[in-house]
Amino acid sequence: MKTKEIKIAVEVLEFEELTPLEQTLVTRAREMTSKSYAPYSRFCVGAAIALSNGEIVTGANQENVAYPSGTCAERSACFYAHAQYPDAKFVEMAIAARGTDGEFVTEPISPCGACRQALLEYETLAGANVPVLLAGQDVIYKLQSVKSLLPLAFTDF
Ligand code: THU
Repeated sequence: MKTKEIKIAVEVLEFEELTPLEQTLVTRAREMTSKSYAPYSRFCVGAAIALSNGEIVTGANQENVAYPSGTCAERSACFYAHAQYPDAKFVEMAIAARGTDGEFVTEPISPCGACRQALLEYETLAGANVPVLLAGQDVIYKLQSVKSLLPLAFTDF
């Protein structure tokens, strides 16, 4: 039997170690947590995506009384980004969250499975890695690509 090991690297950074663009993305994602509509979970998530045309598109989770109809911050941002700027490529993105206590989460959160699959589509369209910044209160995890979040992904048929 052969074993295939898949490893991912997670850089653990402080805000000051980020590039200016990354700092902007984290700040915009944090700001977007206040635009979250989360009356049911009270868990507020924000996302910011830098595009190749210089735009930064943001999103926040939007819940619904029929729970499955709601959408995560990451998908609200990526679908809006591609709907508004279909020719622009995704360059880099950040995600931030505030817990039910209203404080930014200590441990960064990571996108759900459905968001990973959706984001992967846009990374594939970009033709290059799209680094993902997961912002906690004091610590930021940096992943080199969306695909590192979704090993053995279903990409095409
Ligand atoms: N949520 C996001 O927006 N992004 C994530 O990465 C995880 C979860 C939202 C969905 C729901 O509105 C709330 O957070 C609680 O799960």
